[in-house]
Amino acid sequence: MKLVFLGPPGAGKGTLATLAKQALNLPHISTGDIFRSNIKEGTPLGLKVKKILDSGGLVPDETTIEIVQDRLRKPDCQGGFILDGFPRTIDQAEALETFAAPQAVINFILADEIIIQRLSGRRVCKNCGASFHLENLPPRREGLCDQCDGELIQRPDDTAQAIQQRLSVYTAQTEPLIGYYRKKGTLKDIDAQPQPEVVLQTLIKVLKA
Ligand code: AP5
Ligand code: MG
Repeated sequence: MKLVFLGPPGAGKGTLATLAKQALNLPHISTGDIFRSNIKEGTPLGLKVKKILDSGGLVPDETTIEIVQDRLRKPDCQGGFILDGFPRTIDQAEALETFAAPQAVINFILADEIIIQRLSGRRVCKNCGASFHLENLPPRREGLCDQCDGELIQRPDDTAQAIQQRLSVYTAQTEPLIGYYRKKGTLKDIDAQPQPEVVLQTLIKVLKA
């Protein structure tokens, strides 16, 4: 199954993909994670995109499309995938149609005030990238990752200013994809507000319908 997770920043795409990849036995491809690991490693791509990510803007389409196309060629993606955070523009969606048209696009629906609460309370592991939340999903030991004991930090784009920028970029550039995929008949709306396990059950039901 070729799946796309579409939705505003902080809607829970990454959290759900972590659960869904096991339930559906599909690889989880997150463009945000790919960029962040390149930044961490200090690769030429990482150096090029760091400022863009920190400020909450979008990496140019050409760069992003090439990365996704390369990644989807790998053997683990031949039986399907969960694409998290791509496409984010109409041009990216048009490109994806030419090399891996999605069979279902999951539209995560969440009110703005909850998005802001989720992003401002998010903490991620500096070491393995696992995601937590100060109130919704606290780690077992304060400030430390449950998986690898790494230090939990705030993402540089989870500051108030960068959150506002990401939300306005979402409205201007990504939200039009809802109409694009609805017209194609592949869009499936889900309520992203309940607990992650409940959202997962909704996702599985929606995919079977
Ligand atoms: P990306 O990493 O994709 O960031 P994003 O879209 O802003 O989304 P987030 O990762 O912030 O949110 P999420 O929906 O995954 O929520 P999460 O599960 O973490 O992209 C980062 C940047 O990379 C972009 O700004 C851009 O610069 C660049 N980029 C990436 N893709 C690109 C593209 N295609 N084109 C161009 N540039 C691109 O959850 C958030 C918090 O809420 C967590 O703390 C979590 O614990 C909590 N939570 C999650 N679900 C629930 C729940 N059900 N109940 C309670 N709490 C929950
Ligand atoms: Mg994410």
